[in-house]
Amino acid sequence: MAGKILVRGLTTTKAPFIEEAKKNGELFIRQPYELYSKENQKVWTKLYNNIMPLWEKHANEKFLEGIQHLSLSPRQIPKLEDINRFLEPLTGFQAKPVSGYVPPYLFFECLKNRQFPTTITIRDGKKLEYLPEPDIFHDIAGHVPMHTDPVFADILVKCGSLAGSVAKRHAHISSREEQIAKVKSNLKALARFFWFTIEFGLMKEGSRLCVYGSGILSSAGEIQYATESRDAQRYPFRLEWVVNQSFQIDSFQPLFFVIDSFEHLYEEVKRLETFLNEGKLDNVAYDEPHIGDKEIEDFLYDL
Ligand SMILES: [Fe+2]
Repeated sequence: MAGKILVRGLTTTKAPFIEEAKKNGELFIRQPYELYSKENQKVWTKLYNNIMPLWEKHANEKFLEGIQHLSLSPRQIPKLEDINRFLEPLTGFQAKPVSGYVPPYLFFECLKNRQFPTTITIRDGKKLEYLPEPDIFHDIAGHVPMHTDPVFADILVKCGSLAGSVAKRHAHISSREEQIAKVKSNLKALARFFWFTIEFGLMKEGSRLCVYGSGILSSAGEIQYATESRDAQRYPFRLEWVVNQSFQIDSFQPLFFVIDSFEHLYEEVKRLETFLNEGKLDNVAYDEPHIGDKEIEDFLYDL
């Protein structure tokens, strides 16, 4: 894009820089920091100031430590190069700027390599609580502080390598139809695991119920609902349920699974691998999430 005048503004769905990148087929991009508008910066400050008291009350300790490690603050949208300078020495993880949707194969491949695809746009100031798609507040303020913890980082890498192994597990099956059905079922199970832990996980720290899922941590409304609402269902983590449980992405979550610690979650991701090895994830319950044919093709590409 050298030589072009870049239009200021990195608002979700209204960012000329992102449109241009997409038009050129560029998924991995830079963070053009100079293009954040005053309004974009104001949104970050407002979101951060709104949510900070809720983090102090409800976020898990590793998350709160992570915020300190990364020097996140309400003052301004963080520069990813600063984040990475703090993050990489701790766990080897890096936030990698992307122009938009990252297909599942590539997303998990990135995790395996300790890279986290990171949205650089920020939501519209008129819709602070409504998130049609991830933004930098969700990705950086919701996910990345957790990536400073070595056990949590290893869990992400494990999720990445399990997803990467799915197609090979079924390479010997001669019927293409059966092969696709099993790969689809495995990916559904992995996506559900990811959803009910990394995105919407709760944890018991002693007697304190706290949050570690990024989908909750990046929304003031979700934090309050997940931890305080009498309508929310909270159950002890049970892998057998999680892999068979559908979910919806467009409303408050009705159901949460609670882990005891990140060591506990690491044990569960190892059990997930055992389930995969034993074929227990080859025929999980139907329903959401939908895994499309194009997405399956990416996984089967190397076979
Ligand atoms: Fe997320």
